Amino acid sequence: MIEFYKMLISICLLLAMNAHAESLEVLHWWTSVSERRAADILVERLSKESWEWKDAAVPGGSGLGAMKVLKSRVLSDKAPQAAQLIGPAIAEWGDLGLLLELDEVAKQGGWAKSIWPAPYASIRLRGHVIAAPLGIHRINTLFYNRKIFKQLGLAAPQSWPEFERAAEKIKRAGFIPLAQSSEPWQVATLFEALVLSEGGPAYYRDLFVRRRANAFFDPRLGRALERLRALRRYMPDPLTEKTWTQMAKMLAKDEAAMLIMGDWVKGELNASGLLTDEAFSCVPVPGTNEMHLYSIDTLVMFAGNYMKQAGQEKLAQLLLTPAVQANYNKIKGSVPVRRDANVRLMDSCARSSWQTFAKGSTVQAPSLTHRMASDEALKDAIVAQVHRFFSDSQMPVSEAQRRMAGIVRALGAEEKEP
Ligand code: BGC
Repeated sequence: MIEFYKMLISICLLLAMNAHAESLEVLHWWTSVSERRAADILVERLSKESWEWKDAAVPGGSGLGAMKVLKSRVLSDKAPQAAQLIGPAIAEWGDLGLLLELDEVAKQGGWAKSIWPAPYASIRLRGHVIAAPLGIHRINTLFYNRKIFKQLGLAAPQSWPEFERAAEKIKRAGFIPLAQSSEPWQVATLFEALVLSEGGPAYYRDLFVRRRANAFFDPRLGRALERLRALRRYMPDPLTEKTWTQMAKMLAKDEAAMLIMGDWVKGELNASGLLTDEAFSCVPVPGTNEMHLYSIDTLVMFAGNYMKQAGQEKLAQLLLTPAVQANYNKIKGSVPVRRDANVRLMDSCARSSWQTFAKGSTVQAPSLTHRMASDEALKDAIVAQVHRFFSDSQMPVSEAQRRMAGIVRALGAEEKEP
């Protein structure tokens, strides 16, 4: 009998040990140098709590591959313990009962008060907190190479006429004015910044959040499409499907003078040794000054494995601590989701992003391409349509508008804003 109890005790001890120095598998798409370094901040911090971060990184800018892998793993009952999930998908997955509720962690950490309203709203479902937000990226960012601008005596463009004058001069001097890849998500990232530039946040939301089919026939969308096409003459020729990190390199190597992309590019340029406001600077895309096209990187925890729950809650708690928020976002290129972040420690790009975002919902527009505005179906269909228009110089602008309105009608228009 005593032997039996001894055995039972050792089994319990073993189980307890296992439950501790355990690992959490985290699925994400942070595979570039700066993305990796930013994720390592989280890995190291977690390991101090005796939890190992088991990496499940799926390469591919904007997470197309990662989302496919995540879906198939969840469907085959092999969900990781945590994953990068963004925007309305968080509530959709929460609705299916897949996500761990983090109410206690959020309460202890005072998240309701410390997080900005937009990121806080994006992690809530029916009064519960179901995710932990990490950082806010600004998509309407125009990076420019200071060396080329200085050499040609140019100032950062504040308007489209200024942009065009600068681009012409840059072209004549033998540089590529605007780095751009033909990869569909990168074309769509530029497109949505142009839509914001033409229409402002309210019109942008009519299109991609409220899904008003009639808004797609508006001349403002027509002008954004025309500009997308017109900008081609400043892009590399031939235009190929390069990665976003290759685009950042074109700017870093003084081959291209400008790049319009989310501010993860800043992280990558910094990681390659180029300092903000020395080698490059950033300004809002012309016409979007005082507007913020945003995407919020967020981790969800999958429910169902009680052995891992303590680690999942620990990870969620760590993500929102002021130190992790400051260190991670500095490397990643984004800004903290916390309202008490120290703006004096930010570089000029981060400060501008932060101060603009702080102005609230009237200046904010959620990124369609980076999953903040709609579900995957609308995003995928619009991205494909924008790419087709961009690749086919014969397609009339009005035809592209008609097709997009058709997509919205087919997918169910007039959604209520979350
Ligand atoms: C993500 C960023 C990432 C970028 C490039 C965006 O969708 O929000 O975290 O750096 O894609 O892959």
